[in-house]
Amino acid sequence: MTERGQFATRLGAIAATVGSAVGLGNIWRFPYEAGQHGGAAFIAIYLLCVVIMGVPVIVAEFVIGRHTHKNVCGALRQLSPGGKSHWFSAVCITASILIISFYSVVCGWIVEYLIQAISGKLISAQDHNAEFEQFVADPYRSVLWTVLFLIANFLVLRRGLKNGIERVANVMMPLLFVLLMVFCVNSMLQPGAEKGLKFLFSPDFSAITPHVAIGAMGQAFFSLSLGLSCLLTYASYFKDSDSLVKNATVVAILDTLVAVLAGIMIFPIVFSYGMTPEAGPKLIFEVLPSIFQQMPGGYVLSILFFFLLFMASITSTISMSEISIAYFGEELRMSRSNASLLNTALAVVLGALCALSFGVLSEFKIFGMTLFELFDYVSSNVLLPLGGIFFSVLMGWVIDRRLVEDELSNHGKLKVKMARPIIFCLKYVAPISIVLVFLYGLGAFNWLL
Ligand code: PFF
Repeated sequence: MTERGQFATRLGAIAATVGSAVGLGNIWRFPYEAGQHGGAAFIAIYLLCVVIMGVPVIVAEFVIGRHTHKNVCGALRQLSPGGKSHWFSAVCITASILIISFYSVVCGWIVEYLIQAISGKLISAQDHNAEFEQFVADPYRSVLWTVLFLIANFLVLRRGLKNGIERVANVMMPLLFVLLMVFCVNSMLQPGAEKGLKFLFSPDFSAITPHVAIGAMGQAFFSLSLGLSCLLTYASYFKDSDSLVKNATVVAILDTLVAVLAGIMIFPIVFSYGMTPEAGPKLIFEVLPSIFQQMPGGYVLSILFFFLLFMASITSTISMSEISIAYFGEELRMSRSNASLLNTALAVVLGALCALSFGVLSEFKIFGMTLFELFDYVSSNVLLPLGGIFFSVLMGWVIDRRLVEDELSNHGKLKVKMARPIIFCLKYVAPISIVLVFLYGLGAFNWLL
């Protein structure tokens, strides 16, 4: 059975939680979503979602996790009436494994590109588009890198909370910020950088459709690691003296900052080198390598860039894995090593299938989607928002208000002015908005459009 630990320091707890939030969602997805959907207008809606839904749901997960100091199943058993809602932990654990499976495929690509950057192959390649298409379709290479990435993930997890998760986050998070700043400065110094900044920051409200607004909300959920009990699990390792509202605010601010900095790092160079930002998801694998090729210092920059992505992604997969590892350890009484191994084995099998979705399994479709797309769709668009509703309703309506207030104020030791607005958002704003999004997704408002 796993020893229940705590993060050694408050800074370590924040580094690990920010590490979870900051990932491919910020550096890879946010910039192209914002770029394609109205720039500053998209960012404004995104920020609104972070404030009225993101922070309150983070706080909800933090309260549940820190109060119980248990894995998601144990926590729900303790806090829901009659312990009945603990079945929801199965949804969280399933969602977390689905997300790791498709996410680690992209992480595998990052590792391949990092190695190629180090070996100098990336900088000398002829046609980056063709190389990328060929690579993702290659069954051996893409599976191999996905599996190697998951092994790296396993090696950190097996070392436990303080020596594995916290230590890695303490080193990688500051380094990530430093590298981001270096890239931002480099990007702004390129000739014509203003065009990229204009593209990212000039608001185009006409680009905001309901579809885009919903995209912004989904992005906020994914980026903040919400609705999956990931933050609940990390908060179960927080100290009783930590301020939950402060921690939640710091995490939300830093996560958003990284997303915006990633946009500043990417778009000015894309415009400066005469490329188009429309490449979307393939931007970082096809467009950026060809830019590094032409840029002074491109060899070093390409290595640092993929290293930055590697750090951002592994601290996120570590946090997704911890949900099931805590469950396996505490509920199934497995040792930390075995729990990490089981998590990795599941992710390897499903991750390999997702990796093959770009090649030999590309014709294998369920509801018209490849496995990679299906896992992404089901977890990000269905299970995460469902988790968001679940945790906000649980905290807003079900859990005793005194318990919530005690937890937010550390039993009266802290003055928390934000408790009321947060609970209001959890009771009304978050669940209603998320339900509206669901209905919209099901086409219930088509008559309006
Ligand atoms: N927040 C991560 C990102 O932006 O890439 C993704 C993520 C991590 C989602 C952990 C869910 C999770 F539980």
